[in-house]
Amino acid sequence: MQIHETIAGVRAAMRTAGRVVFVPTMGNLHDGHIALMRQARAHGNAVVASIFVNRLQFRPGEDFDKYPRTFEADCQRMVEAGVDHLFAPAEVELYPQAQSYYIEPPAEHASILEGEFRPGHFRGVATVVMKLFSIVQPQAALFGKKDYQQFMVLSAMVREFGMSIEVIPGETVRAPDGLALSSRNGYLTEAERAEAPRLYRVISELAAEARSGARNFADLEARAMNILRINGWLPDYVAFRKKLDLQSPSAHDSGLVVLAAARLGSTRLIDNLEV
Ligand code: PAJ
Repeated sequence: MQIHETIAGVRAAMRTAGRVVFVPTMGNLHDGHIALMRQARAHGNAVVASIFVNRLQFRPGEDFDKYPRTFEADCQRMVEAGVDHLFAPAEVELYPQAQSYYIEPPAEHASILEGEFRPGHFRGVATVVMKLFSIVQPQAALFGKKDYQQFMVLSAMVREFGMSIEVIPGETVRAPDGLALSSRNGYLTEAERAEAPRLYRVISELAAEARSGARNFADLEARAMNILRINGWLPDYVAFRKKLDLQSPSAHDSGLVVLAAARLGSTRLIDNLEV
C-alpha cells in the first residue's frame, strides 16, 4: 500500500491508477470500514482510501479532539484488505488557510435529523468530500448506509454538480448483538456497551411493525423514544422517513427507513434500518 501525505503525491499516483474507487474515512478503522474497502475492489482497479479527521464537520464541544487516532493499526488492516493507496494528509495540507468556500447542502437535506442536532455538520462533510473528490478524482466512491443521511446528501451533491462519480452504498456492519459498528463505540463503558444494542432492537421492532402494516408513525416513534428514555438514554430522534429524500412519509408511502439518534452517557449513537 502506498501512503500519500500530500495532494501532489496522491495526484501523481492517480494519473496511472486506472479506474479509481475511493473510500473516505476518518480512521480508527473497524469491520464496517473494511467491508467498504473490500467491496471497492469489485468496482475498479485501484482502491484508494483516505484518513482525515475533518474538523469542519465537528461542532465546538463535539469529540474532534478526542476522536480516536490509530494510524498504525489502521494501515495494517488496510494492507490486509487490499487497499492500494492511502491518502492521509495533515490538517495543514487540506486546510492551509481556514476554508472559506463551502458546499452548503439545502436545508431540507441538511437541517433535518442529524442536521437538526448537529448544525453545520453536513456542510462540513460535503465540503471535505468535494475537496477529496477533486484531489483523488475517483470514478466511484463508497459510503456506508450506517450514515444514511450522509449517503443521501453526498449522492445528491454528486448528482446536482454533474460529477462523474458513481456513488455506491455499503450495508451496515454490526456486532453479533446488533450494535452498528462505530468508532464512537469505543467511548462506551462496559455497562453502556451492554445496553447499547437496545437502539438496534428498538428500531428493529419499529421496522417490523411498519412491515406488517402499522402506519401510526408518530405513536410508534413516541413509544420507541420512551423505551429508550426509561432505559437511561437521551434520544434526539426516532423517525420514519422516505428512503429517497428523508422527508416524512404519509400513510400510503412505501420505501421507508427508520432512523434514530440517542445519547447513552456521553456517547451519541446513530442507527437506521430500511423497512
Ligand atoms: P467515518 O465515520 O470514518 O466513516 C467512513 C465510512 O464508513 C462512511 O461511509 C461510513 O458510513 C462508513 N461506516 C461507518 N460505520 C459503518 C458500519 N458499521 N457499516 C458500514 N459502513 C460504515 O463518515 C465519515 O467517516 C466522514 O463523514 C467522511 C465521509 C469520511 C467525511 O469526513
